[in-house]
Amino acid sequence: MRISVIGCGYLGAVHAASLVELGHEVVGVDVDERKIHALCQARAPFYEPGFGDLLRSSLATGRLSFSTDIAAAAGARVHFVCVGTPQKHGEYAADLRFVQAAAESLLLVVEAGDVVVGKSTVPVGTAAGLATMFTEKVPGTSVAWNPEFLREGFAVRDTLYPDRLVYGIPEDGERIVGILDEVYARIVARGIPKVVTDYATAEMVKTAANSFLATKISFINAMAELCEATGGDVKQLADAIGYDDRIGRKFLNAGLGFGGGCLPKDIRAFMARAGELGADQALTFLREVDNINMRRRIRMVELAREVCDGSLLGKRVAVLGAAFKPDSDDIRDSPALNVAAQLQLQGAVVRVTDPAAVDNSRREWPQLDYVATAEEAAERADAVLLLTEWREYRELDPVAFGEVVAQRRVLDGRNALDRDAWTAAGWTYRALGRRV
Ligand code: UGA
Repeated sequence: MRISVIGCGYLGAVHAASLVELGHEVVGVDVDERKIHALCQARAPFYEPGFGDLLRSSLATGRLSFSTDIAAAAGARVHFVCVGTPQKHGEYAADLRFVQAAAESLLLVVEAGDVVVGKSTVPVGTAAGLATMFTEKVPGTSVAWNPEFLREGFAVRDTLYPDRLVYGIPEDGERIVGILDEVYARIVARGIPKVVTDYATAEMVKTAANSFLATKISFINAMAELCEATGGDVKQLADAIGYDDRIGRKFLNAGLGFGGGCLPKDIRAFMARAGELGADQALTFLREVDNINMRRRIRMVELAREVCDGSLLGKRVAVLGAAFKPDSDDIRDSPALNVAAQLQLQGAVVRVTDPAAVDNSRREWPQLDYVATAEEAAERADAVLLLTEWREYRELDPVAFGEVVAQRRVLDGRNALDRDAWTAAGWTYRALGRRV
C-alpha cells in the first residue's frame, strides 16, 4: 500500500521506516529541510538505538522516500499525521498548531477514499473536528485515530511489536478498520489485542495511559518522601509492593521523577482539556502528580547541599546524565538539566556529561559546562550526582572512579548504583528515599 507520513520527528520517522518494514511504500513529509536531508542520506536526526539500521534497510528497498513537499503525499491511500503537540508557552494546554498545519496541507492532496490517520497525542475532540473538516472539504475522505505508545529508546521495537492496536473510527467506519488492518497486516497476524472504538476513547487511551504511568512514578516518589521522613527504604518498598502483580514492579523506580516530551506535557494538557469540558475535578489529582514530580528536583539539590557541608558555593559538582532518560538524546523537560542549572544558581561549579545529549544540551542550556566523559566531569569533584542512569554510569568502577574526585560523595538520583559496592569503595552514598 502507498502511505504518507506527515511529520518526521521521533514518532513519524520511526513509523515511516517501520511501515516499509511491514511491506509498504512510504513517503515521509516534513517542513524541516535539515531533518529531511538527513533522513534522505540515511542519517538519523536523533539518537535512537536500532533506528539507523532500520532507516538504512528501509531506504535500500527503494520503497521509502522523504520530501519537504506535500505534493509527494499525493497518491497515497493512507496519510498518517505524526506531528508534535507541545505544551503551549505559559499554559497547560497542548499547542495544536502543527496538527492544524498538517491537516491543511493534506487537504491539498487527499482524494475521495483516502484515510487520514492521526497518531499524535491530542486533546479529546481533535479527531472529530478534523473529521468534519475533511469530509466537508473533500467528500469521501475519512479520519481515524490510532494512538502510538512507543517509548524513546525502544521506539523501533515498540512500533514493530506493539502490545496493542487502538483504532478510533467514526460510526460507519468498518471500511477504515479493513484499511488499518491491511496497514498493520503483519502485526494483526500475530494476534495482538486490538481495540476498535470511537474517536474520544481512542484519544483518551493515550492520555489516560501516560497519566497512569506518571501517577505510578509520582506515587513511588511520594513514598520516597515518606521514607526520607521515616528512615524507610523506597527501593525495598517498591520491590515488596511490586511482587503483587496487581501492582507490578515496572514504573516504580523512585528517584528524580519523570521528564521528556510526553508525560509532563500530556498530564498538563489532559487537565487543561478536562477544565474546558467542565470535568476538571476528575483530574485535580494530576496536579499533585506534577507537584510531587517537581519536588524531587528541589530535594535533589537540597541533598547535594547537605552532602557538601551545607553550602554549594564554589563546590565542584559532577553531573552524570543530561538526557531525560537513558538511551535518548532528548532533553525536553529533563530533570537532570533542571537540577544542574539549580546547582549552578546556588554557586556550584557544575560539569555535565552525557553519552548522547551534550550537543542538544549545549544548544538549550548554554550556561552550563559540558565535558565528554564521566571522569572529566568528576575531576577533583566535591560530589558526583548520577541524574540519568545510562548503563556506562551504572557500570562505573567505584574504586577507580574514586581516584579522580576530591571527595568520595555520590548522590544516586535514580537509585541505579550498587550502594554496597560504592560504600565499600569508601564513598558516602546518598539517594532519594533511602536510608543514609
Ligand atoms: C512515554 C510512555 O512510556 C510511552 O508509552 C508513550 O508512548 C510516550 O511517553 C509518548 O507519549 O509518546 P517516554 O517519554 O519515551 O515514553 O519515556 P518513559 O520510558 O515513559 O519515561 C518517562 C520518564 O519517567 C523518564 O524521565 C524516566 O526516567 C521516568 N521514570 C520512568 C521514572 O522516573 N521512574 C520509572 O519507574 C519509570
